[in-house]
Amino acid sequence: MAKRSIQSSMSLWLAVQTFFFLAVSSTVIYVVADWTLKKSQESEILRHEGMIRSLYGQAQKSGDLQELRAELTEFFRIHDELAVQLKLNGEMIFEAGPDASNDNWRQEHMPPTADAPELDLIMAVRVTADRQMLSTLAIALVLVSLAASLVASMVSARLVRRGLSPLRALAKETQEVGPHASGKRLNEEAYGTEMEPFVHQFNLLLQRAERAYQQLESFNADVAHELRTPLANLIGEAEVELGRPRNAEELREVLLSNLEEARKLSAIVSDMLFLSRADRGVIARTVQVNSLCEPTLEVVEFHEALLETKDLRIEVKGDAQVEADVGLVKRAISNLLGNAVQYARYGSRIRIDILIESDGTWIDVSNDGPDIPPETGDKIFERFYRVDRSRTGANYGLGLSIVAAIARMHGGATRSVSHHGTTTVGFSIASVQGSRAFKHRRSKVHEQPPGGGGT
Ligand SMILES: Nc1ncnc2c1ncn2[C@@H]1O[C@H](COP(=O)(O)OP(=O)(O)O)[C@@H](O)[C@H]1O
Ligand SMILES: [Mg+2]
Repeated sequence: MAKRSIQSSMSLWLAVQTFFFLAVSSTVIYVVADWTLKKSQESEILRHEGMIRSLYGQAQKSGDLQELRAELTEFFRIHDELAVQLKLNGEMIFEAGPDASNDNWRQEHMPPTADAPELDLIMAVRVTADRQMLSTLAIALVLVSLAASLVASMVSARLVRRGLSPLRALAKETQEVGPHASGKRLNEEAYGTEMEPFVHQFNLLLQRAERAYQQLESFNADVAHELRTPLANLIGEAEVELGRPRNAEELREVLLSNLEEARKLSAIVSDMLFLSRADRGVIARTVQVNSLCEPTLEVVEFHEALLETKDLRIEVKGDAQVEADVGLVKRAISNLLGNAVQYARYGSRIRIDILIESDGTWIDVSNDGPDIPPETGDKIFERFYRVDRSRTGANYGLGLSIVAAIARMHGGATRSVSHHGTTTVGFSIASVQGSRAFKHRRSKVHEQPPGGGGT
C-alpha cells in the first residue's frame, strides 16, 4: 500500500474544497450578471418601442408618413446599436440597421397594440459588448477559482506542516527513551491536548516494557546465579577427586554426589522450560474432572512419607467438578503441599480446601508455621524469589511461579494469606459454564492420619 501523507492529502482536500466553493459562487455571479444584462436589453427595447409608437401616433394624426420616416432616419443614424423594421399592413415602410437575425443582436417582434393594430414592429438591440463582457467575466472567474485553490492548497500545506511539528518533536524525544534510558518518560503536556492521551498511553507502555525488561534482566541474573552453585560443586568435586588416586568405592560416591547436582541442574532447566512454554501462552489441555478431590488425594498420598517425618496430619475439604489438565493441577497442588510440609510446625495440621467461588474453583493449602512477611506480598509467585535466600537444597524459588503459571494456563489466579502463624497459599481454575458444585460433598472431610493409607 502506498504511504499516505497527512500533509499532502489535507492540502489536496482543501484545494478541492476551495475550488468547489469558488466554482459554485462563480456560477451564481455569472448567472446574475447574465440576467441583469438581459433585463437592461429588454428595457432598452421597450423604451425605444414607446418612442416609435408615439412618433407613429403623431404621423397618423397629421397623415404625414414622410415626416415620420425623416425623424426615424435621423434618430437611427446616431443609434447604430439599434435596428428596426416597421411594417404597415404587411408593407415595409421603414427599416434601419443591419440584419439582426444573428448572435450579435437581440431581436424582439413587438406584439400589435389596440391603438395601432396595423403596425408591425420588429426591434433589435446590439448585444456584442454584453456578450464580450460575460465571456471576460467567465474567464476571470475560472482563473480566480483556480488560483485561489492553488493558494489555499499551498497555505494549508504550510499550516499542516506547522500543525504537525509536535509530531516531529515527539519522534525526536521518543528516540531518547526506551529500556536503556530507564525511568525517562515523554513530557505529556508538551504536545498539545490532542496528543496528550497518546503520549500518556505511550508512557504507560514504556513503563510496562521497562518492567518486563527489568524482570528479564534479573531473571537472567537469577538463572546464572542458580546454575553457578551446582556447576561449581560439580567442577570443584571433580577437580579435587581427580587430583589424587581413588579406589572404585570412593569414585562411586563422587559420581553419586555429582549425579545429585546434575539432577538439580536438570530440574531447574526443565522448570524453566515449563515456565517459558507457559509464558508463550500455551493453554492447558483440559478434560472434565468430575471430582477434584481425587487427584488431590493422590498428591497427598505421594507426600505421605514426608508428612510422617514431621508427624503432620492432613485434611482435605470440599470438592468440585472442573475442566482441567489433571497432571498440571496435581503438579501445582504438589508444589503447594511441598511448601506447606516444609514450613509446617512439627506435629501440626495441614488443610487443603477446595472452594467454589464466583471467579472459579480455588485450591487453598494452609499450614501452621512462620508467617510470610506482609511486605513480601505477591513476590513469592515470582521466579527465583525466596523469603530466606540463604536456604538452598531443593529450594530454588521456582515452585510457586510454576503454580502461578499453571493457574494462568487454566484462566485462574493465585493468592496468599499469612498471619498469626497460619499461612494459606492457593490457586484457582476458571469456572466453566455448566460445572456444577457438588453441594452434597462439600462438607466431606478426608482425614489422612500420619502413616495411614489414602481414603
Ligand atoms: N507455606 C509457606 N509458609 C511460609 N513461607 C512460604 C510458604 N510457601 C512459600 N513460602 C515462601 O515463598 C517462597 C517461594 O516459594 P517457592 O516458589 O515454592 O520456592 P522454594 O520452595 O523453592 O523456596 C519460599 O522461599 C518461602 O519463603
Ligand atoms: Mg517450594
